[in-house]
Amino acid sequence: MSEDQGHKKPQLARNYDRAAWFYEASSTIFSLGQIQASKRDQLQFMKPGDNVLYLGVGAGEDALLAARTGAKVTCVDISQGMLDRLQLKLEKENLEIELICQSAFDHDRTEHYDICATNYFLNVFRPDDMARMLNHAATLVRPGGKFLIADVAVPQGNPLARAFTFLYLKSAMLSFWLIGLVPLHENYDYPALFADANLTLEHVELFRLAKFGPVAYQSIVGRKL
Ligand SMILES: C[S@@+](CC[C@H](N)C(=O)[O-])C[C@H]1O[C@@H](n2cnc3c(N)ncnc32)[C@H](O)[C@@H]1O
Repeated sequence: MSEDQGHKKPQLARNYDRAAWFYEASSTIFSLGQIQASKRDQLQFMKPGDNVLYLGVGAGEDALLAARTGAKVTCVDISQGMLDRLQLKLEKENLEIELICQSAFDHDRTEHYDICATNYFLNVFRPDDMARMLNHAATLVRPGGKFLIADVAVPQGNPLARAFTFLYLKSAMLSFWLIGLVPLHENYDYPALFADANLTLEHVELFRLAKFGPVAYQSIVGRKL
């Protein structure tokens, strides 16, 4: 299961190991369920038998949903603690997913997958590394396949809504930064990087705080050229 055994565990992996027990519950509470809704939106793009890759899968609530649809799921994460939590869920439902503990940068199955999902993952990188990871992840998708991103949205709407979203999302980033999970950075405009990664934009769904408040989360779908 682990491809990185024998190497010293990076500090980031240890930080995520420690956060594994509360990560999904805290994101559900903080987003009032909208983080989960943004990931659920992706199921409409999957069909049974699809080869689906989740990079930075964490505890894998989204990968579990995909496996239930009959997709063949592979999950990569640098944190064994996160993967262990996903494994427990799989055992309860008697489902099988390939779990690989490694840096996503080391996952090199070029053009192997029908779908690659990077949910709330690209924002754990500083801008340069994020662009590098987005490009790398896109190479793992076959031509015509799909590239999925559920993540926080760039603040939008009227000035009050933008200010509120900015402060709301920054409060989460600051808390996660304090425990060593993310660097401080701007919210990313992923579609702006799609052309460089050989992707075209196909779908954007926005998710509002408490369903009627300002836009805070999004589900983006790109197609690999
Ligand atoms: C913010 S969490 C998001 C987890 C999950 N995708 C979700 O939506 O709940 C980021 C995840 O990326 C993992 N991660 C960070 N850097 C990584 C890397 N270089 N390669 C693979 N996983 C990484 C962390 O261990 C963590 O599980």
